[in-house]
Amino acid sequence: MNFPTALESTAQALLVFGKGILAADESIPTIGKRFAPLAIPSTDENRRAYREALFTTPGLSDFISGAILFDETLRQRTGDGGATLPELLAGQGIIPGIKVDQGTIPLANFPGEKITQGLDGLRDRLAEYRKLGARFTKWRAVIAIGDRLPTAACIAANAWPLAQFAALSQEAGLVPIVEPEVLMDGPHTLARCEEVVGLTLQAMFAGLLAHRVTLEVILLKTGMVLSGNDCARQAEADDTAVATLRCLRRAVPAAVPGIVFLSGGQTDVAATERLNAICRAGGVPWKLSFSYGRALQDAALKTWKGSPANVAAAQAALHHRARCNGLAVQGKYSEQAERESPVREKHHP
Ligand code: 13P
Repeated sequence: MNFPTALESTAQALLVFGKGILAADESIPTIGKRFAPLAIPSTDENRRAYREALFTTPGLSDFISGAILFDETLRQRTGDGGATLPELLAGQGIIPGIKVDQGTIPLANFPGEKITQGLDGLRDRLAEYRKLGARFTKWRAVIAIGDRLPTAACIAANAWPLAQFAALSQEAGLVPIVEPEVLMDGPHTLARCEEVVGLTLQAMFAGLLAHRVTLEVILLKTGMVLSGNDCARQAEADDTAVATLRCLRRAVPAAVPGIVFLSGGQTDVAATERLNAICRAGGVPWKLSFSYGRALQDAALKTWKGSPANVAAAQAALHHRARCNGLAVQGKYSEQAERESPVREKHHP
């Protein structure tokens, strides 16, 4: 089968062993929610300064292969007015990507369920994003687990736009990351999560195949199979790994080159421990890695607090989490590695 070599090499570069993707694509409302508890005003300058601090972390590209940006960030320049932020990333060997969905809205007639919007005008936006330096894209659909949720209608309604997004991205020369996120919220069991993630992935891959998407040049971004946040019995990392890998083996075609996990509200250390357990178990046809937002950024953001004086310490915190997750991809993460935090060492010599 012929598929564009440029797309293939971008996909393989994103999946280089030992590295993962930094999700820094919070929309303006979402980054506002992250800044608010720290009393950081969500101005365009603060958003720019924060992303520039993340992206200039020394040594970040040792563990990070790509970074997903939001529309505003793709157009911003460094504080000295020099490079654009995607140019800055590319100069460091980190591939710039772009979130292209336009968020979720309530699904009419289905209380508690959502549909992702953003297909209108997408072909033109993709052409512009590519000119601005993006080499891959992301679209996130959201599936909630609850009493009689998700409905079959919600799963189907979200699968087709994901497929159309992926087809349009490949047409534009951009590698699509398809992200059907099954939320952790609720009292559901590990087994129920496995069932819902499986059904969601089956519907999504049926949609991708129906839309003639080339599976060899997509990345799947999924949540792990986890006990719900409010479930009384929280599964151990090893049980999570067994359920996650069984679910993925049943639902994801071997043609897909890689699966990158989202963190979805897990604590940063838990996200690393579970990734380590999954990758250590291995035995799957795809490359496995991470595409974390909160689980990479939380410590860095809390350290930065909006002050230029804290940039170096915030970068050390990001570097540490990226390194721990880079080790987890190799199944080599340990408590010892966790203790080697430069930030903690500084505070507790
Ligand atoms: P989290 O890892 O914080 O869930 O973010 C990943 C992401 O990109 C969600 O769309």
